[in-house]
Amino acid sequence: MAAVHDHDVAHAHDHHPSGMMRWMMTTNHKDIGTMYLWFSFIMFLTGGVMALTIRAELFQPGLQIVNPEFFNQLTTMHGLIMIFGAIMPAFVGFANWQIPMMIGAPDMAFARMNNWSFWLLPPAALLLLSSFFVPGGAPAGGWTIYPPLSVQMGMGMDMAIFAIHIMGASSIMGSINIITTILNMRAPGMTLMKMPMFVWTWLITAYLLVLVMPVLAGAVTMLLTDRNFGTNFFNAAGGGDPVMFQHIFWFFGHPEVYIMILPAFGIVSEVIPTFARKPLFGYSSMVYATASIAILSCIVWAHHMFTAGMPVTGQLFFMYATMLIAVPTGVKVFNWTATMWRGSMTFETPMLFAIGFIFLFTLGGFSGVVCAIVPIDIQVQDTYYVIAHFHYVLVSGALFGIFSGAYYWLPKWTGHMYDETLGKWHFWLTMIFFNLTFFVQHFLGLAGMPRRIPDYALQFADFNMISSIGAFGFGLSQLLFLYIVLKCIRGGAKAPAKTWEGGKTLEWTLPSPAPYHTFETPPVVR
Ligand code: CU
Repeated sequence: MAAVHDHDVAHAHDHHPSGMMRWMMTTNHKDIGTMYLWFSFIMFLTGGVMALTIRAELFQPGLQIVNPEFFNQLTTMHGLIMIFGAIMPAFVGFANWQIPMMIGAPDMAFARMNNWSFWLLPPAALLLLSSFFVPGGAPAGGWTIYPPLSVQMGMGMDMAIFAIHIMGASSIMGSINIITTILNMRAPGMTLMKMPMFVWTWLITAYLLVLVMPVLAGAVTMLLTDRNFGTNFFNAAGGGDPVMFQHIFWFFGHPEVYIMILPAFGIVSEVIPTFARKPLFGYSSMVYATASIAILSCIVWAHHMFTAGMPVTGQLFFMYATMLIAVPTGVKVFNWTATMWRGSMTFETPMLFAIGFIFLFTLGGFSGVVCAIVPIDIQVQDTYYVIAHFHYVLVSGALFGIFSGAYYWLPKWTGHMYDETLGKWHFWLTMIFFNLTFFVQHFLGLAGMPRRIPDYALQFADFNMISSIGAFGFGLSQLLFLYIVLKCIRGGAKAPAKTWEGGKTLEWTLPSPAPYHTFETPPVVR
């Protein structure tokens, strides 16, 4: 079975708890990766149900389904759940499964901390979700929880703050684990510049996480003391500054969007060479581009604040710095395209999602450059144009990357092939309904429809109806994904050792000759 590696044999004589305790106490990177991925999928469905409730309310003008206060709670919680519950844990799940195998390590460096990192997440998610049921309800007013609004809300906000603390701790521990594993546990011959791109992108992502998660923790802690202990960090009447919260929050928040996309870049950089049957074009430029994106992502945060009041010099700096990110991103898109160029391509589901990723993520990148232009941003600020932009980045970017990686590695993880026909159906339904949902939101935004409002003027009715139909189609299509995964786990054709014809036994991408180890069996690390 392809999923079983020789180093598992070393653990065969250990004491193994069974049943629920097996999952509670596991220190095995594959078990923990699996738990991360299932947790992420459950959160994806939870946040998805919230999105569908939002789209149901917006199906036609007038208030029908939820009251405005609950609508605000839904938009806020949808964002928090999808970011911290769905996308980030999914990538940590991929990291757990793949990084040790890709670098020839027996497991993650801190196997017990790895268990703890995961098991912090379910209680944090429960805490966050239970804020719906306390007086005042869940946080409302957006996932960015700006004061002064967030200072005035009910205790649901305190619960969200604690949930963010716990999830942040989980992320930081996960990142330390990933960094330590990659830097210390590579097999002989696996030099840094021979690591698979997925490992590189996660190494850089982990550094970003260690850099910015404590900053978020600081921001929400100040919010907590402003709310409960009489401090005035963000209270202008007490000598504080609410705009300072925005600066601190976005110093976390902008790198956060790269935290959610760099691992997807890594996945796509593994998938494209396999199905183009060529080595990755421009490997080292890919590494440097990833690092450049990460560094630049730390100096662009105030592009979220162009309308908050800023000197023109500041606006110009943040505008140009933001546009500069398009350069290394362009290098990546060029390299992926050049990898496919004259390759002997086939279009299995992982490749379809990877190509869909390149096409649609690039579109999201273009609308990002549009939003970066100060005069345009001032016009489209807080409209559906921004919603359309970041869903092109996060859904057809991050989520398509996750789907691509899931189909690519499912045979390795389960030992079975997934149903290719159904996989293709899943891709095309997802692709069509995604664009139906979000492309029209560009037009709504340009026409001036504001975000986070449960009702709208009549002229927006047609596009909203199209968007809501798209959203429900998109949501239903994801149940097909669940079915495909369950079917693959329960059986199906045995996955061959070399899963993808012409693919690598290792997830291994090199412009140069392979190192002296084949890594078919991981070498002993001393
Ligand atoms: Cu940003």
